Formats: sequence, structure tokens, C-alpha cells
Amino acid sequence: MLTWQLWCTLLCVLWIYFLWSRRRFYRLIFQIPGPVGYPLVGMAHKLLHKEDVLRVFNHYLDKHGPFIFSWLGPIPFIIVKDPKIIQDIFNSPHCLNKGIIYMAIDDASGQGLFSKPEPLWSVHRKLLNPAFGHKLLVSFGPIFNAESASLLKTLEPLVDCGEKNLIPLLQSFTLNIATQTTMGSEVKYSEYIRSNKLLEAYHSLLESMTDMCFSPWLLSKTIRQLLGREEQYAKIKSQISDFIRKIIESKLTKGSEAPPLPEDKNIFLNLATDLMNRGIFTTQDVQNESSTIVFGAFETTANTVAYTLILLAMFPEYQEKAFEEIRTLFPNTGDFEVTYGDTQNMTYMDLILNESMRVLTPVPIVARQTMQDVQLSNGIVLPKGVQIGIDIFHLHRDKNIWGENAETFDPEHFLPHHMQDKHPYSFIPFTKGIRNCIGWRYALLSSKITLAKLLRNYKFSTSFKFEDLDFVEDITLKLRKVPLLEVQKR
Ligand code: HEM
Repeated sequence: MLTWQLWCTLLCVLWIYFLWSRRRFYRLIFQIPGPVGYPLVGMAHKLLHKEDVLRVFNHYLDKHGPFIFSWLGPIPFIIVKDPKIIQDIFNSPHCLNKGIIYMAIDDASGQGLFSKPEPLWSVHRKLLNPAFGHKLLVSFGPIFNAESASLLKTLEPLVDCGEKNLIPLLQSFTLNIATQTTMGSEVKYSEYIRSNKLLEAYHSLLESMTDMCFSPWLLSKTIRQLLGREEQYAKIKSQISDFIRKIIESKLTKGSEAPPLPEDKNIFLNLATDLMNRGIFTTQDVQNESSTIVFGAFETTANTVAYTLILLAMFPEYQEKAFEEIRTLFPNTGDFEVTYGDTQNMTYMDLILNESMRVLTPVPIVARQTMQDVQLSNGIVLPKGVQIGIDIFHLHRDKNIWGENAETFDPEHFLPHHMQDKHPYSFIPFTKGIRNCIGWRYALLSSKITLAKLLRNYKFSTSFKFEDLDFVEDITLKLRKVPLLEVQKR
């Protein structure tokens, strides 16, 4: 039996060993300002609630500057909203791995492009890039147009019916588009999609994922079982993977009878199953990548369209300007075809979309980690093993970059003469650099087609005030209270 003196000695030895093993990080304390936090805990206790994350980050960034260092328990951690440092990080081949917080994403949706570590990520990204090429994207035009025409019809019964939450409707719409463009247009007939069951399953999975990010002990199956959370979580996961597996299987059987059309070969599922047939991807790879792409596409795009409508409802003067531009391009109401060329002529809509993604950036924080020592442009070397939180939300609202009205919605922020002196990494809704969003062109094209049809046919208003918006970090940006919108016919 060990006496208490022996226990104390053992603890001291462990503590000294622990401090010794972290020694390469200590110089950062003197080089980068930031909250030291409590011994052993650092600032981890401040970040246990998703409701508080943006507020805590803002508090420390305001107090210590745009680049800060702290500890998450034993883990060294920096938060950054300085565009120059962000550029260094996004372009360093040693910062390609996502932060440890993405373990929750792996667990919930399987390891796909979003969270895959190097060197596998580079291989998968190169193989999947053709599924996001320009020609293929333009070929999705008919799907984007047909689905937004259905959306117009879905909104019809809401006209003059008081204020409504349009987000669920828009999410169902973008999920329809994402599944069709990823897995082929025949999936729209699936009962699982039509009954909104897939949407409900993704919501439930996203909720579990977020809980696991902020309560990492939930990553343990045993703890989930003890807390009674495993059964539902496992059920949802298997529902989604069964759904995707069946689509892959039907593609493979059909594929043997009728090979995909040549122009279809790069559509995600054709590309991925072809890689599988050639032994480059496993079935699990195809399943994980399909799920990741649908996940990556639908919520972000739905929120972008929804938040843009909300902002335009709050600022009717900008809604009118957008409407005038669209009316010039499409003189008649009702359904009309929006081509890629038309979207290139929507210059005011570009200002609106950019400004919307600046003030309500769909992905507020992204996380990376250093895989090797990384030399930053300010001379500081980040050692291997540092977690990095890139605070896009506060970068986009930084008064030093965007001026005194940084926190309000003003599309003029994006006029060329206002943008010319800004650092290219001041605006990064899709991140930038080596591991940027693979779907950014897709997102912009589909959002512009949707907004053009909606704004030409309907006018949106709200009694909710911009100043009352309040935000929650939920992997994607969520509004604590969703502004409801009134829909009127144009
Ligand atoms: C407005 C809509 C969108 C926004 C704001 C957005 C934003 C982002 C951001 C910030 C990242 C980087 C995440 C990180 O570094 O942790 C990302 C990655 C990704 N996005 Fe998007 N996204 C959007 C739409 C889409 C669409 C439409 C797709 C697919 C069709 C997509 C697929 C992906 C994938 C697969 C990744 C992981 C890329 C990689 O690591 O190689 N996203 N997105």
C-alpha cells in the first residue's frame, strides 16, 4: 500500500514530466499575448457551452489583439482573426490537418474530405476535384432551376399569411438539390427524402455532432450509453448510411446494364463508384464522401439564402435595389430560366451575397493544427501540435478592417474602391488557400439562382430588428432567435 507521501511524489513526478513534455510551447506565452487561464484547465472551462464560444473569443480578441495564445487543458491553442496570419496558416502545407474538435464530425458522418487528415486528404481531394469543375457545375443549372421553381410554388400558400420561419423550408429545398447533384436526379423520388426523414436525420446528427464538439467525453460510446444517448445516435447514423448505401448499390447494378453517359462521368457518385470499381476507393470511402458532401452543401447554402432574405427584409432599401437589378434581367414574374451567364450579370446581387456572408458568415470558426513547425510572416514559429481556431465571424466584423459600420449590413462594403486596400484574407466565408471549400462556386451559383427567382416573385419583410440578432456557434452559425418573414407577391 502506497503512503500519501509516495502518492504526492508520484504526482509531482508526473506533473514535472508533463511540464517538460510541453516545453516547446512555453516560448509562445512570451511571444503571443492571451489569457493564461487556470493551471491544468487553461481556458477550456470557458468553452464548454456553444452559446458562449463566440462571446468568449470576442472578449479575448478585444482584450489581447487579433492573435492570441492560451491553453485548452494541456493543449496549446491559438485564436486568430489577423488576415496576414490566417493567410500564412491557410497556405502552409503543415497546417492542412483539421483541429481535434473535428473528431466529432468523423464519428458522426464518417471520415470524408471535410476532416480527413494528410496524406490521405490530398489524394482524395485531387480525385474528387473533377466533381466540382466549371462545366459540370453549369450542367447542374436545370436542377437548380427546377428545384427553385418548386420552391416558388411552396411559398405561394404563405403569401399574406403573417410572419413565418422559412429556414426549414429552405433546408428541405437545398437538401433536395444537394442529394440530386451528388447522387443523381432520380433520388428525388426517394420516400426517405420526400417525407423529410433525411432532413430530420441530418438535423439530429448535426445536433449530436455539436454536442460532441463541446462535450468531448460524448465521443466515448460507453459514456453515451450510460447517458442513454447511444441508441438514438446509432439509429440515425445507420439510417443515413443505409440510405446512401442503397443508392450506391442501385447505381452499381444499373451501372453494369447501362454505363453512365459520358457527360455524367464526373457527377460525384459516378466518379466515386468508378474509383471504387478501380480499387482506389472502398465502399466506405464512397459512403463517407457522399455523406460529407451532402452535409457540407445543404445547411450552409440554406442558411446563406435564408440569412440573405432576413437581412434584405430588415433593410428594404437594399432589397429594392436587388429587385430592380433582377427585374431588368427578368421582366416577367413567375418561373423563368436563370443561366450561368445571367448570374454573371447580377452584379448588385454579388454585393448583397458577399455582405450577407460577411455579417452572418455561415461557418463562423474553423480549426486547424500544426503538423510540423510553421514559420509565420510575423517571425513567430508555431511548433508542431498547436491547435488553431480561425475566427471568421470576428474577422468579418473587425472595425480595423471594415470601418466603423463593420457590424451593420451595408452591401457597399464590397464596392471595388472599398475592397481594393483590404487584405485578400479579410473576407473568407469559404476559407482560402490549399484546403478551401470545394463547393464554393456551386454554393454561389445555386444561391444566386434561388435568390433571383425568390426576389423577382416575392417581397420579404420582418418586424425583427438587426440589432436584436444574437448568435450561437453550432459548427454552422445559428441565430438564437430566428427572425420570421412575411411574404408578399410582387
Ligand atoms: C454558402 C455555402 C457554403 C459555405 C459558407 C461553405 C463554407 C466552407 C468552409 C468555411 C469550409 C472549410 C472548413 C474548414 O476548414 O474546416 C468548407 C469546406 C468544405 N465544403 Fe463548403 N461551404 C459552402 C457550401 C458548400 C457546398 C455547396 C459544398 C458541396 C457541394 C461544400 C462542400 C465542402 C467540403 C467537401 C469541404 C471540405 C473541403 C476539404 O477539406 O477539402 N460546401 N466549406
